[in-house]
Amino acid sequence: MSSTDRDRVTAALAKRRGLVNDALTETLPIEHPEQLYSASRHLLDAGGKRLRPTVLLLTAEALTDTEPLSDGYRVFGPQGIDVMSAAVSVEIIQSFTLIHDDIMDDDDLRRGVPSVHREYDLDTAILAGDTLYSKAFECMLETGASADRSVRALKELATTCTEICEGQALDVAFERNGSVTIAEYLEMIELKTAVLYAASASIPAILLGADEETVEAMHQYGVDVGMAFQIQDDLLDLTVPSEKLGKQRGSDLVEGKRTLISLHAREQGIDVDGLVATDSVDAVTERDIDAAVDTLETAGSIEYARNTARDLIASGKNRLDVLPECEARSVLCEIADYLIERRY
Ligand code: IPE
Ligand code: IPE
Ligand code: MG
Ligand code: MG
Ligand code: MG
Repeated sequence: MSSTDRDRVTAALAKRRGLVNDALTETLPIEHPEQLYSASRHLLDAGGKRLRPTVLLLTAEALTDTEPLSDGYRVFGPQGIDVMSAAVSVEIIQSFTLIHDDIMDDDDLRRGVPSVHREYDLDTAILAGDTLYSKAFECMLETGASADRSVRALKELATTCTEICEGQALDVAFERNGSVTIAEYLEMIELKTAVLYAASASIPAILLGADEETVEAMHQYGVDVGMAFQIQDDLLDLTVPSEKLGKQRGSDLVEGKRTLISLHAREQGIDVDGLVATDSVDAVTERDIDAAVDTLETAGSIEYARNTARDLIASGKNRLDVLPECEARSVLCEIADYLIERRY
């Protein structure tokens, strides 16, 4: 990816992140009981890249030839669909999954701040996640799309949430399973992570009444780039310092997570569960993680994961042929590259 392309992606993300943040503030005011709503807003206020709502907005832009920041940017197409409500909906789902994921993964740090169950308490974190989960469905109902399109968008969202739970269940079960295969890992990340990208790319097509071929191709774009995104997330967990990542480096090694990197290493005969000899993320040192990464690098496992992610991105980009040629389509293409080149 050239530095010009990278600058373009960064600017495109920043522009839409600002718009999504404004809409989120409006959608989720602090209501009674205050603790529940402030806990629900905790991670949304802390930051986040807003990648999924940005993919959703760009797809709508490509399908309707809309420019960001023009008058009425919330509203797209001749029927005036409020696509921003759908964008806010998927980011709220993202936030819900992060709150519950940090409980499951026993992680203290998220978006550079204490995770919700650490800042508040476990009960509040569970409820904040549940509140966001249902709010997202309320938001998806606010787009002003016809009843049949709204029902289909809601169905897509509901199926996505079921699949995320299935993926998270597999992720947790795999920690205690020493014989997980690469095919099983790929299925798990499609479910826990990629389907939310798939929903983000296909829901605007559904709401705007695009043809079936377009809806399906955008769904597949999301699956491909979303799987690559998770592989990159697994790589960043090993390589990026906690201060920069906003979450604890090495958490996957400590938790015994199965990743493409650890599965490949196991195939090379490496004792992956012995790579860090602690089950406490506080006890693991930067040197322990550096040593583990050296071993994984030598085994070719890092390279293997990078290559797999690269192939998925190439496949995802090809799916975009279904969109009209325009600026938004080019940015969706560059975002695909960015997902595996990002450093946080
Ligand atoms: C983190 O997603 C959760 C995963 C699926 C790996 P992001 O890296 O997009 O997190 P935020 O939203 O930018 O904080
Ligand atoms: C998270 O995967 C997937 C979901 C949140 C559904 P990870 O557990 O790898 O995400 P991070 O690394 O904590 O963000
Ligand atoms: Mg996690
Ligand atoms: Mg997890
Ligand atoms: Mg991770």
